[in-house]
Formats: sequence, structure tokens, C-alpha cells
Amino acid sequence: MSFSSYFTQKSGGDRIFAVEAPKIKFGRDSLLEIGDDAKALGMKRVAVFTDLRVAQMDHVAKVVESLKSHGLDAVVYDQVAVEPTDVSFKSGAEFAQDGKFDGFVSVGGGSVMDTCKASNLYSSYPADFLDYVNAPIGKAIPVPGELKPHIACPTTFGTASECTGIAIFDLLEMEAKTGIVSPRIRPNLGVLDPSVLSSLPPLVRAANGFDVFSHACESITARPYTHRPAPESSQKRPLNQGANPYSDMACLEAIKLVGEHIVQAVNEPVEENYDALMFAGMLAGIGFGNAGCHLPHGMSYAVAGLVKDYAPEGWPVDHPMVPHGISVIVNSPAVFRKTGPACAERHWKAAAAMGADLTDTKVEDGGDILADQILGMMRETGIPNGLSGVGYSMDDLDALTDRSYAQKRLIDNGPMPISRDELKEMFRDALSYW
Ligand SMILES: NC(=O)c1ccc[n+]([C@@H]2O[C@H](COP(=O)([O-])OP(=O)(O)OC[C@H]3O[C@@H](n4cnc5c(N)ncnc54)[C@H](O)[C@@H]3O)[C@@H](O)[C@H]2O)c1
Ligand SMILES: [Fe+2]
Repeated sequence: MSFSSYFTQKSGGDRIFAVEAPKIKFGRDSLLEIGDDAKALGMKRVAVFTDLRVAQMDHVAKVVESLKSHGLDAVVYDQVAVEPTDVSFKSGAEFAQDGKFDGFVSVGGGSVMDTCKASNLYSSYPADFLDYVNAPIGKAIPVPGELKPHIACPTTFGTASECTGIAIFDLLEMEAKTGIVSPRIRPNLGVLDPSVLSSLPPLVRAANGFDVFSHACESITARPYTHRPAPESSQKRPLNQGANPYSDMACLEAIKLVGEHIVQAVNEPVEENYDALMFAGMLAGIGFGNAGCHLPHGMSYAVAGLVKDYAPEGWPVDHPMVPHGISVIVNSPAVFRKTGPACAERHWKAAAAMGADLTDTKVEDGGDILADQILGMMRETGIPNGLSGVGYSMDDLDALTDRSYAQKRLIDNGPMPISRDELKEMFRDALSYW
């Protein structure tokens, strides 16, 4: 069976795609139902994970009140690090272990939800830290059993961490971003209440919006699942299956919503923008949770990990950092110019969904049209001008390339094979755009 010519079967390629659908609630005031949801999952003593900034907003208070009003015991942990590390993951796990909790609620962005997943994992099944971490950095040992129930309540809209079995962190001793991946660490329920987004600073909104776009656009332009070698057994089929008809459906709609709402959401937001973007983030999460990202994300880990002196507006951190969404989108125009010819129609459709005027354009120019459309929107939303805008120069190209080339899982999920020289060429093209 093939739904579009993109999925034409390749000899030795997989014939099957699996659909992992997260359990989700969406809507304003859904946070007020958390007590009921936690009780239904059997929680009695709940650890509420958050970070210091979110803890000061009324989202956490609403959640705690709802838990208590349903007779549950709730203890807040507000020490989550923004852009977590192995050290901050371990601190969260210690808190989780000492507190003898039987359930977890996370209220915050990707940093908080990921820390909560890892804390639940290491407190439920204690192990050496690198045991569950992705290979080759860690041992990638499968999670031994079910974790305690976890309800994730995002207060940002980019990461879709509430939908995924992924927890990302910086391994400090290697200056490397890596993660833990297992369907078992996926939250039991994601509660998406768009009313939490109105307090996000403008550049955080822009970074989140482009992260959503990237998840969706990388998923639809990923290598088709029919070209990925068939697994030896059904249990070995990876979460990153490659582009497939299910993720296509969610991702094209996500790109359209980002295209319609991101510029207004950054510059003069109205309620509707937040509803649309949070929904887009969820759709893209469902999409990339089944298809997987590729080059812009693979390159982003080096951009974030090798940061020198960039300090973004709107993130309350006292050290240099390149926020995730920015570290991704600075690579994307250079990548899509390169990958365009591999599946031009998909790039062209993505450009249309982002709002590009396709009159008198040719499908084969899809990659360039998409890159130009992204660049226009980056400028309208205050995103830095490529890698030079976040502190990199020609002198850094080899280090960036070597670090990214190790992200084999993501690079292989792209629509075409990429050599080390081609990767370096993309980093060079991403240095400065305007
Ligand atoms: N697990 C996954 O599938 C996945 C996917 C993509 C990214 N990530 C990871 O997620 C992390 C980034 O997460 P993020 O972009 O959601 O941001 P974040 O959690 O790092 O938060 C960014 C800043 O925004 C603040 N903030 C959060 N919600 C707010 C609100 N409603 N109003 C005002 N301020 C608010 C936080 O306090 C913080 O200072 C990175 O570590 C990244 O690697 C994980
Ligand atoms: Fe991302």
C-alpha cells in the first residue's frame, strides 16, 4: 500500500508504521481538573515538579489547590534547572526518592517535564546515571517496568514533552546534550491549558513557535518509513520511524497553525493565538513522536552545547545559553535549501502552510521557497541572525560539525544521506542570513 509516491516501498525497507498516541486533555481551565485526574490515576501523595519562575505564577497554586481539594497530599519541588543537566536530574531524583511519592505532576516547560520524567525513572528503578541514557554516551538499557503515574502540564508550547517518551539534558562533563528515550517515561496524561501561555516573554514565544514548526517540518521531510531498514522484530521498530501518513496529517496542520499565528503571537498577541499555538505544539508532538526529527535538531545539540557568550532576553539564567527553539531554527533555512531537492513537493507544501505566496513558483524550488519564508518570519519575530547571531564564527565550524555528526540517529532520519563535509557546509551557510 502507498498513500503517496513518497512512501513507495524500497527493497528491504519497513512495510509497517506504528501509531503511539499520547493521552491528552486540551482546553482553558483544564488545570482545574488535575485533582480529579490524579485521583483517577491512583495518586495519593503527589510530587509537583516546577521551576522557581513558574512556581511564582498562579498555575502551580491552581494545581496544588485542585489536588488538595480532592484529598491528595501535594509537595512542591521548585528546584528544576532551566535547560536541565545530569546534576539537576539527579537532584530531582533524590527528592523523588526521599519523599516516597506515588505519583508526579509537572507544571512548567520542557525543562520541568523532562526533569520529572527522569526523577520518576531513577527513583522507581535506581541505577547508575548513564544506564538509561542514549547510546553511545550511555548504555541505553531498557527501562525495566512501569513507572509511577505522571501528569504533565506544559506552560510553554514548543517541546511537546507531554506527548513524548524523551527527556533531554546536558551531560556537563562532556558538554553534550543527550537524552533518555523510552515509551515508559512518557507521561500518562498531558493537560494543555492555553491560558498559561499569556505570561511567556516574546522571545520565548518565538523560540517555542519555531520549535513547533521544526518538529513538524522535519517530520514531514524525514526519510519515509518505507526506506528505513525493516527491524528484526516488532519490538525493535524505533520511535523515530521516519515520515509516515499519520504524522504527515498532524504535522501539516501544525505548520499551518504556526504560519497563521506566530508573528502575531510574538508582537501583539490575542487569546486565539495561544490556543492555536498550543494545539499546534501538541499536533507536532504527535507527529515527531512517531516520525522523528532530523538535521536541524541534530545540529541544534552542538549549537546549544558549545555556547560561548550568548545570553537571550527573557530566560532568567545567569550563564550563557542558546535556548532550544533558537538553536534549532538558526540551522533550518540552510538545511532546507540543501534537503529541498530530496523531496521538493514536501518542502513546497510546508512553505505554503507557513504562508508563502506560491504564485508563479516551481515545486522543484520548494527548499529555497521554504527557507526564504522562514527567514522572513525569523526577522519579524526577533530571532537572531543565524549562528553568528548566537556567538559563533567560521572558527567554530569544525567543532560544531564534529559534535553534530555524532547524532547519527537524527542525521540518518533526514531525506538524503549527508556527509561530514556537507554538514559543515550547512553550518557555514547558517552563519549569517541577512
Ligand atoms: N522531551 C522532549 O521531547 C523535548 C523536546 C524538545 C525540547 N526539550 C527540552 O525542553 C527544554 C526547553 O523547554 P521549554 O522551551 O519549554 O522551556 P523551559 O522549560 O526551559 O523554560 C524556559 C523559560 O520560560 C519560563 N517559563 C515557563 N513557562 C512560563 C510561562 N507560562 N510564563 C512565563 N515564563 C515561563 C521558565 O521558567 C524558563 O525560565 C530543553 O531542555 C529542551 O532540550 C524536550
Ligand atoms: Fe525541539
